[in-house]
Amino acid sequence: MVQSCGSEPQDDETSSLWTETFHKFVDIKANGPSSIGADLCLHGFSHAYGLPEHADSLQLADTRGGEPYRLYNLDVFAYDVPSRLGLYGSVPLLVAHKPDRTLAVFWLNASETFVNLRYSSADPQEDEVLARTTRLQPETDVHWLSESGVIDSLVLLGPSPQEVFHQYAQLTGYQALPPLFALGYHQCRWNYEDEADVKAVDAGFDRHRIPYDVIWLDIEHTDGKRYFTWDPVRFPEPAQLQKYLGWKNRKLVVISDPHIKTDPEWSLYREARDRGHLVKTRDGDLFKGSCWPGESCYLDFSSPDTRAWYSSCFGLEKYKGSTPLLYLWNDMNEPSVFCGPEQTMPKDAVHHGGWEHRELHNLYGFYQHGATAQGLIQRSGGKERPFVLSRSFFAGSQRFGAVWTGDNVASWEYLKVSIPMLLSLNVTGVGFCGADVGGFFRDPDPELLLRWYQAAALQPFFRNHCALWSKRREPWLFGDEVTAAIRRVIRERYCLLPYWYTLFYQAHTSGLPPLRPLWVEFPKEQNTFTVDSQYMIGGALLASPVTEPGVQEVDVFLPGVDEVWYDISSKEAYEGGRTLTLPVTLSTVPVFQRAGSVVCRSTESGSCTAQLQSFPLSITVALNSQGAADGELYLDDGHSFDYRDESSFRLRRFSVRAGRLLCRPGSEDGTFDCDTCVESLIVLGLKSKPSTVTVHMSGTKDSPAKFQYMESSSSLTVSDLKLRVSQDWDVHMG
Ligand code: GLC
Repeated sequence: MVQSCGSEPQDDETSSLWTETFHKFVDIKANGPSSIGADLCLHGFSHAYGLPEHADSLQLADTRGGEPYRLYNLDVFAYDVPSRLGLYGSVPLLVAHKPDRTLAVFWLNASETFVNLRYSSADPQEDEVLARTTRLQPETDVHWLSESGVIDSLVLLGPSPQEVFHQYAQLTGYQALPPLFALGYHQCRWNYEDEADVKAVDAGFDRHRIPYDVIWLDIEHTDGKRYFTWDPVRFPEPAQLQKYLGWKNRKLVVISDPHIKTDPEWSLYREARDRGHLVKTRDGDLFKGSCWPGESCYLDFSSPDTRAWYSSCFGLEKYKGSTPLLYLWNDMNEPSVFCGPEQTMPKDAVHHGGWEHRELHNLYGFYQHGATAQGLIQRSGGKERPFVLSRSFFAGSQRFGAVWTGDNVASWEYLKVSIPMLLSLNVTGVGFCGADVGGFFRDPDPELLLRWYQAAALQPFFRNHCALWSKRREPWLFGDEVTAAIRRVIRERYCLLPYWYTLFYQAHTSGLPPLRPLWVEFPKEQNTFTVDSQYMIGGALLASPVTEPGVQEVDVFLPGVDEVWYDISSKEAYEGGRTLTLPVTLSTVPVFQRAGSVVCRSTESGSCTAQLQSFPLSITVALNSQGAADGELYLDDGHSFDYRDESSFRLRRFSVRAGRLLCRPGSEDGTFDCDTCVESLIVLGLKSKPSTVTVHMSGTKDSPAKFQYMESSSSLTVSDLKLRVSQDWDVHMG
């Protein structure tokens, strides 16, 4: 039966297929009912991951008897934990792993999608699948179901996790290389009140000697929630404010949401309306919803013309009060429609080309994110790397910048779940991600806040943010002890930035995620497959943030039977393949360096990332049982595309073999002219004291270096070096 558009639902059996009613909302399916699905059986696999965004465990759960994983981008304030309901973004990529193979299934569909999973080993006693098949191998059944579209699915065969990440990046794009400042610390709240408030908070960081790079302005900075404008009373001199921050090498981020206040007096609204850049209803009128400004229209980012126009709105001429030091934050882009079904856009709203919203819902935020990033690139004449944070995302959003996990709550369970949430994003390509430090909603007590800082300092995107109703939360408001402990973790983050930046270069060029579940680095070890309270930062560092209140000791699982791990604070060595019980104080952050790795740090943190380039480096070498170790360092100007367009970068490789540390070009090396020097060297796991330590550089005479050997920790410290990283040199520990 075909029902004509707009007519009342008929009372017969098929009418509900053409018209669906949900509370007061009626969804008219102009193209009729549709759904597509596929069942896949992953033989031999009993672990699956990915499918963000859900506030749930890293390993996907067996969904029998419960909710399927839902992929439908929604604005869910203070979302439930744990939950398989849809949150702000979706990546329809499922990654399955077993000891000898990793594979991934990419289901390219942006309409509402459900994924059901069934592990044959969930309950072997009662398992029908196992009984039916008599196979001894486990298997995972995956059922994909989408509301519309065509079946467009790819299976990526790995076989290693690294190869799967690479294969997926080839399909959807590599992680954008962020400007260095974006990896620093960000201070946000809803809202910093006015220019004086921003300056006072900025000064607070200097007074308390806490490094930071970016201060953020939420919706109240605008003139009546009209994005691209400034409140004339609170922010009368926005360009001056940016200049003031820029003078200290700091940046300003402002929010820009996709809803546009329906105000015929406002030129941006008129332009969007008159040029056809707004989403329509099925009757061809402007779609009007509501969001922060009240009645609003929504930009139709699915249209290439709208995206191009929107990008042009970030031009310095057009965006009054903006300067090159202004960066962006796209929020509410699921999109959030306060009066809509499930607080989003009705599925029968119509986009460019006549496409119904139902077809592309999960892509809406992705398109805004891309257009904003493009706008920032264009305003610099294609020279500068953008920074844009988005709440909504889809497969490929990694190409545009960062995402965060939305409106979490100041409680221990949200701190805990932030780890699997960020790992799920990382295994699905979205490497630059973080959670609001301290929790967006409510107020953390000092212990929770400190533990959250400790965890987030070891995660890619590091921003403190909270709601309008939350108390002020700047790092110095919780007493001297807490301030000192927060200062320490932020400084350590800054010192570790040469390593983080190198990891982002690797993500950018090879698709390897900066944050890795333990199984990615230990693919053969079954006991790593379900760990989601710990993770690897790159291949060298294992982090196990404390996420419980009032603890005096924590258990840390150290993988790898033949591995050795070095506690980065005490330098003590521990054998792998066991769980270590570690005494902790409030300031303890358990981090271990894996034997066989080299990690580069800055010797100082400075007051922001711009200073880092002038500080010398310290290299920590953790030797494995063969006395070997390897690592890389990536350097460039930290902000432009010259690394790409002019090969203006340096990729250096450090390797230790037979008592010699070699600094050589990496797999590719560029021409970036830098004076950065290595000042000190710490070698862990050196069995005996060397009689001499000499530096060898071609064209110069070998020179002896100052060193100290600690028998108790088998560690060697070589100091007072001045070795340019861009040159080749050797250090002989004879
Ligand atoms: C949303 C965002 C939050 C922001 C608020 C006001 O709730 O998730 O981060 O502060 O809107 O813009």
